[in-house]
Amino acid sequence: MRRKLVLGNWKMNGTLADARTIAADLAARIGDPVAEVGLCPPYLHLATVAEAVAGSPIFVGAQDVFWAAKGAFTGRVSAPMLADAGIRWCLVGHSETRGKFGKLETPESTVGYFAETDETVNLKIKALLAEGIRPILCVGETEHEREAGETDSVIRRQLSAGLVDMDPVTVVVAYEPVWAIGTGKVCDTAEAQRVCAMIRAQVGDTTRVLYGGSVSDKNAAELFAQPDIDGGLVGGASLKSETFAAVIAAAA
Ligand code: PGA
Repeated sequence: MRRKLVLGNWKMNGTLADARTIAADLAARIGDPVAEVGLCPPYLHLATVAEAVAGSPIFVGAQDVFWAAKGAFTGRVSAPMLADAGIRWCLVGHSETRGKFGKLETPESTVGYFAETDETVNLKIKALLAEGIRPILCVGETEHEREAGETDSVIRRQLSAGLVDMDPVTVVVAYEPVWAIGTGKVCDTAEAQRVCAMIRAQVGDTTRVLYGGSVSDKNAAELFAQPDIDGGLVGGASLKSETFAAVIAAAA
């Protein structure tokens, strides 16, 4: 039996005070939830959030990692650094670190800044596992790829290339259609279930498969009730403790 998992991805939002307040309030609201619950704040807020949720079942994860252990990599954070700070989960391959930002208004040439590829996703997963950190591998097609009928092939490629030389049981997979992220355009439930079932066929029955992309307190219960959707990766709706607590309750 796979335990449901609900993860909040705060992306690049809020102040330290906001992080402390939302995290502490969330911990107080959810008590001892049926689902496993995690928060992924910005690096600078990790320690504050960890302190705010101490003693609660909420775990804290990072949003990204660099694959080298140390050295001349200005601005990067390594897996040993995350492990040293007590972090046990980390997102990898989010469409925004793959370079597909939803709403950046600067020129197209700036969008690929992080330029994550399937190969670097694979390196990051290996670096995390070496430190005992659980990777959450994000996969998903762009609107253009969906319209071109490439959804399934894109996801199969992201999974197999991201998981080269690894047992899929070591990761959690999050299916996040890029066109549904931060847009309010949630993927049709039947289609989200279909893609998650396809992912499951590739990664096996014990690996948890989450859905992400405009998950809210309105649609979470229906999505999480699907046989191959084991919970959610939640962006915008995780920034308000009341709304996020309702999303978590929907996974019961
Ligand atoms: P959203 O983001 O819930 O705001 O669409 C989800 C994500 O990017 O993980």
